[in-house]
Amino acid sequence: MSQIQKGILAPVPKQACYLSFAIAPEMNPAGSLRNLCRLADGHKTVVGLGLSLVRALGREVQGLKVFPCYTEAGFDVPSTPGALWCWLRGDDRGELVHRARAIVQSVAPALQLEQTIDGFRYKSGYDLSGYEDGTENPKGAAAVKAAVSAGQGPGLDGGSFVAVQQWIHHLDTFDAMTAHKRDHTIGRRKRDNKELSNAPACAHVKRTAQESFNPAAFILRRSMPWAEAQQAGLVFVAFGNSFDPFDALLRRMVGAEDGIVDALFSFTRPLSGSYYWCPPMKRGRLDLRAVGL
Ligand code: HEM
Repeated sequence: MSQIQKGILAPVPKQACYLSFAIAPEMNPAGSLRNLCRLADGHKTVVGLGLSLVRALGREVQGLKVFPCYTEAGFDVPSTPGALWCWLRGDDRGELVHRARAIVQSVAPALQLEQTIDGFRYKSGYDLSGYEDGTENPKGAAAVKAAVSAGQGPGLDGGSFVAVQQWIHHLDTFDAMTAHKRDHTIGRRKRDNKELSNAPACAHVKRTAQESFNPAAFILRRSMPWAEAQQAGLVFVAFGNSFDPFDALLRRMVGAEDGIVDALFSFTRPLSGSYYWCPPMKRGRLDLRAVGL
């Protein structure tokens, strides 16, 4: 029986490292992926395959596509496709460094490291804006339903689709707002995380209210903060049984539906945006039969 990569459903870890790779010219990545299968257990290391990698293997995965890009008044939502994405989860930063090195070596030379981002948990799972993140995530069976593919056949069932965006926060701008404005930007009261019924339509949780979409747009968010030197933000990570819910949420956030832009854009911007397919597991290893391996 196919199984989801366990790290997707597990709570966010204390420490993380995100690796993204590109395919080197004239290289066949099949051997790299076979090597990766020996290291990636789906729990401590979650793996996602990008469209270019799947196509380099001569395959298609139904539903896997390229991240959309948007340009609106004053901001861009970029699309920065990648071939392979690994989310290393743990609680010892040193162990993550060594695991990352082993993975990078195992997939070379066909897959070359493009970017590394170190992530961490803030308090019990907060964004660096100081607001709790993940409150309205589906739980239990609802989380599985939202995040895991079913009814697609062997090699696909148990898989998941993940949207990944690195956001950079302008924390000075956010700090300069009044507490009232900050609460109305998110749509929740920081003090007790209570949802504010009188928040404006542009408030983030008003824009993204999952049940207000038709069909409902449930996703499983597993985002974590990042910080480097004086820059900081969020690695937004959302799993779904397809990209449709995320697409609908993002469209509404950028104002493509009704011209109302999510107030989040008043203090944070996405630097990247990629879609990956996370294969299921079989007998403790990545099940790559959908891509012919
Ligand atoms: C810097 C980027 C982002 C930050 C700081 C952020 C932060 C938050 C916070 C604090 C909440 C309220 C608590 C919760 O339910 O988790 C929330 C809710 C939510 N966010 Fe975001 N978010 C970001 C980007 C996004 C993006 C890109 C999407 C999807 C396209 C998204 C989708 C959602 C959804 C679906 C909810 C729950 C809404 C509900 O049903 O009540 N967020 N976010």
